Amino acid sequence: MVITDKEEFERGIRRVIITEDEIRKKTAEYGKLLSREYNGKPLLLVSILKGAYIFLSDLTKEISIPCEVGFMAAKSYFESTESSGDVQIIYDLTQDISNYHVLIVEDIIDTGRTLKAVADILKGRNPLSLKILTLLDKPDRRIADISADYTLFTIPDYFVIGYGLDYGEYYRNLPYIAEYDESLLG
Ligand code: IMP
Ligand code: MG
Repeated sequence: MVITDKEEFERGIRRVIITEDEIRKKTAEYGKLLSREYNGKPLLLVSILKGAYIFLSDLTKEISIPCEVGFMAAKSYFESTESSGDVQIIYDLTQDISNYHVLIVEDIIDTGRTLKAVADILKGRNPLSLKILTLLDKPDRRIADISADYTLFTIPDYFVIGYGLDYGEYYRNLPYIAEYDESLLG
C-alpha cells in the first residue's frame, strides 16, 4: 500500500477516540507514578518498535529519575489487521539486562502474542524485575496469557491508528489516537 494523496489518507480516519490532551495528562500521571516506584533503582525502559516510539519519547520526558532506554523490534502484523501468530524478533537489545529493573513500554496489547514472546525472552535473561506498561489495551482480543502491570487506556475492539500506531505503515504521525475506517480494509 502506498498513499500519497492527503484526501485518501484522511478517509482512513473515522473518528478520534483519544485526544492529544487526554494522552498528555495520562502520560504525565504515569511518569510521576514510575518516578516514585522506581526511585533509587536501576531502571531500563524497553520499547518495542515501532509502534511505541512516540509514546516512549513523551513518557520519558515525564520521568524525573535516572533511567536508560533500549529498543527491540518484533513483528506480527505485517500489512493486515490480523496477527499472524508467529512473532519474529527483528532487532534486539544491545545491553545486558541482569542488573536492571526492566519495564517494557508497549503501544497496544491486542492478542498479546507479541508481548508474551518478548516478555518470555527478557525473563530468561534474569532482570532484577520485569514489568509491562502499555498505552492501550484491547482485552476483548486477548489470546496469550499476559497482562500489563500498568495500562493507560483500555479500549474496545477497534483497529486504531495514530500516535505511533499504524495501518500499513501509515498514520503513525497523527498526534491523537483514532479509529481506522474498517470499511477501507482490503
Ligand atoms: P498482538 O501480538 O496481537 O498483541 O499485537 C501486537 C502488535 O500489533 C501491537 O504491538 C501493534 O503494533 C499491532 N496492533 C495490534 N492492534 C493494533 C491496532 O488496533 N492498531 C495498530 N496496530 C495494532
Ligand atoms: Mg507494537
